[in-house]
Amino acid sequence: MKVPVENSIAFVCGPPIMFRFVIQDLLGMGFHERNIVSTLERYMKCGVGKCGHCCIGVAYVCVDGPVFTYEQIKKLGEDI
Ligand code: FES
Repeated sequence: MKVPVENSIAFVCGPPIMFRFVIQDLLGMGFHERNIVSTLERYMKCGVGKCGHCCIGVAYVCVDGPVFTYEQIKKLGEDI
């Protein structure tokens, strides 16, 4: 079955170890980076953007995420 990638969004969830492989497959299928959505998991302390414990670059995972597009994740410099 061929997926109409131009009109589709892929949501990736599960063990972080699998993200890299699934995302590479999705990119290989033709999905645009902005149409691949995933979550970033971080140990959170305050959960309200005050302590900085969850920061990745300029983003606070607790308040800016935890859901990000792959395009955003790459800009944050996160290696998944
Ligand atoms: S958990 Fe404290 S800033 Fe995100």
